[in-house]
Amino acid sequence: MRKAASGISPVIPVDRKAETPLYRQVYDAYRTAILEGTLRSGQRVPSTRLLAGELGISRIPVLNAYSQLLAEGYFESRVGAGTVVSRSLPDQVIHSQFRGRRLAGVSRGPRPVSGRASLLLPVETGPWHRGWGAFGVSQVAFEQFPFAIWNRLVASQSRKVHAQALDYGSPMGSKDLREAVAGYLRTARAVRCEADQIMIVSGSQQGLGITAGALLDPGSRVWMEEPGYRFARNVFALNGCEIVPVPVDEEGLRVADGIRRCRQARVALVSPSHQYPLGSTMSASRRLQLLEWAEHSGSWIVEDDYDSEYRYQSLPIASLQGLDTNSRVIYVGTFSKVIFPSLRIGYVVIPSDLVDRFVGVRLAMDITPSVFLQGVLADFIQEGHFSRHIRRMRLLYNERRDVLLDCIHRELGGAIEVTGAQAGLHLSVIIKGASDSQLARRAAKQNLWLVPLSSSYLGKVQQQGFILGFGSSATEDIPDAVRKLRILLHSR
Ligand SMILES: Cc1ncc(COP(=O)(O)O)c(C=O)c1O
Repeated sequence: MRKAASGISPVIPVDRKAETPLYRQVYDAYRTAILEGTLRSGQRVPSTRLLAGELGISRIPVLNAYSQLLAEGYFESRVGAGTVVSRSLPDQVIHSQFRGRRLAGVSRGPRPVSGRASLLLPVETGPWHRGWGAFGVSQVAFEQFPFAIWNRLVASQSRKVHAQALDYGSPMGSKDLREAVAGYLRTARAVRCEADQIMIVSGSQQGLGITAGALLDPGSRVWMEEPGYRFARNVFALNGCEIVPVPVDEEGLRVADGIRRCRQARVALVSPSHQYPLGSTMSASRRLQLLEWAEHSGSWIVEDDYDSEYRYQSLPIASLQGLDTNSRVIYVGTFSKVIFPSLRIGYVVIPSDLVDRFVGVRLAMDITPSVFLQGVLADFIQEGHFSRHIRRMRLLYNERRDVLLDCIHRELGGAIEVTGAQAGLHLSVIIKGASDSQLARRAAKQNLWLVPLSSSYLGKVQQQGFILGFGSSATEDIPDAVRKLRILLHSR
């Protein structure tokens, strides 16, 4: 017969010298924990033998306490399933009384908090982050993922787990994955790199955090694209940096404006392949201007290359890092768009002389990336599934993008300006004479997820509009979604 699983022992301070009998002490501790909500309905409790052993008392008082808790309905026991906290406790009533009493004490005395955390842009409460379906941003064609292949690689990786694999890994990430990433970046993105410059991180978000920790001090000034990626801004705000918004146009970041506003910024964060959110591709002359500025002012450039694998009509544009002859670019990439975002794996390409500094910050943060999934991902790349998946998805996203553009032109004609449709998984539309966030709230009620452009501005909002993701919008759903968008825009 299968052994019933045992629960975790709660904290029970038994006192052998106390007048209260031991069985009563155990009973009282459980009753209070249940009433206060420390132990919840359905939660497994340890066997009497185990608990007696852990408390260092004989089993008899524990047996007596358990039988009373069972008799009074606090516990229930099922054959083969062991003893659990009763599932039929009226928990709202009991817990609210007791928890209310505990929470009442929570706000006494001063409660100092970090000033930097209050500088963060507010957590977005807009409904556009909740939905799945037409126009969701940062979503990919989840259902098209090669699940069978991935699951096979996960199974094969689990068979490879041995004692040594359970230890901390390298703070740079596993050698196999770094080599696979370096090979991919050199070939597909013209990034100049060797595997020992690649640090595997948990998505670009962490990559930016480690970069900020390695390069910036509180008060350091950072150029950021305006409008730009608010999640990145939060990273630099949390590091106490002063953010200098620099406008973007159809050629990307306006370098001359950046120099005029703050020549001596320590870092410029850019998304040159497909600016987020307006979608411009940085022109060659701006790239050279930016690299020249960085060299002359002794600054760093952080290149966020988050979705450049998907480029339609023209060939992929080489990375900015590949043009850099002075090792001034830190290149940050992610598997969120090309595999799936919950994987939480990305990479940073670090100039060789900065590698130790980045490792120091990494060790202060999370020490090392998780080892298991790195192995699966390395196999996925090395066996050719990664490049096959990208090729397949490029065709699919191209189709979705074409249908979206077609529908926008048909339904909305010249009334709306489209930007950034040449690459990536989103495009933006500019609207005039209406509040984009009010419209987005109304749209969400019809399951239309429109991210308002205004939410990407740090300073004065210059353009209203929507960021429309098409990665997870099924091709056949797009015409109807655009029709809804037209009705919404005409109803203002
Ligand atoms: C501009 C930009 N950078 C990076 C990312 C990816 O972030 P992560 O790798 O942390 O998932 C996104 C995701 O939507 C993005 O829009």
